[in-house]
Amino acid sequence: MLFDKFNKRKKTIPSNFLERMESIRERPVPEHIAIIMDGNGRWAKKRALPRVAGHHEGMKVVRKITILANKLGVKALTLYAFSTENWKRPKTEVDYLMKLPEEFLGTYLPELTSENVKVQMIGYKEQLPSHTYRAVEKAMSQTENNSGLILNFALNYGSRAEIIEAVKSIVIDTKSGILSENKINEEIFSNYLMTKGLSDPDLLIRTSGEIRLSNFMLWQLAYTEFWFTDVLWPDFSEEHLIQAIEEFQNRQRRFGGV
Ligand code: FPP
Repeated sequence: MLFDKFNKRKKTIPSNFLERMESIRERPVPEHIAIIMDGNGRWAKKRALPRVAGHHEGMKVVRKITILANKLGVKALTLYAFSTENWKRPKTEVDYLMKLPEEFLGTYLPELTSENVKVQMIGYKEQLPSHTYRAVEKAMSQTENNSGLILNFALNYGSRAEIIEAVKSIVIDTKSGILSENKINEEIFSNYLMTKGLSDPDLLIRTSGEIRLSNFMLWQLAYTEFWFTDVLWPDFSEEHLIQAIEEFQNRQRRFGGV
């Protein structure tokens, strides 16, 4: 049965959870979910633990949310794992965050591969330590033919920089004649962004009570439904994802129409 693994973990999962999963799958599921995973530091502080303990716990949440999103039929999950502004954090924290992709993929890639998940990345790879990018690159190439959920890590990602880079590339291509100026439209512009090939997110989730975008997918989120929660990312559970999707399914999206 599709949800066997969840049956075994009933202790932490409400009794009507499986029924709710089934009913979610009967209605349009958000094709692309983007998440700003916030609150790791506060989670750790509340427990008198070092901030990195919150990041580590947050990493485990990434695994369970990925598995559930895939089972629900979500096609892409973009996770804001490190922003271009996060380099301002203490070096020890940055170093730790840069080791997390290796730990995450080293631990969970076999499971994610067997679940048909495809790993991708957006962000500036040039500034990433080579050990970090190597781990992501290896996972991307190992999973490139998988046809399940795209697990898209935003690593060293910043949306304004992405937009400026797109503009620069468009200028170069128009000057060289590859692109004619009057052909530039929203679709063409989107193809110059790092998210080329991915549909725009249908649902954005941000945890920890912060209600802002923090330079995340500014172009791509134009018509996205937002779902904010006070829950800190390490406490984010399958139940919360289900709640967010249920609420999404009860909203009316008009895309500027009536
Ligand atoms: C924001 O919380 C979180 C981050 C900057 C890092 C997100 C990383 C993870 C969730 C780990 C998973 C990563 C991978 C690659 C699997 P914060 O530190 O700003 O929290 P605070 O606002 O409470 O201080």
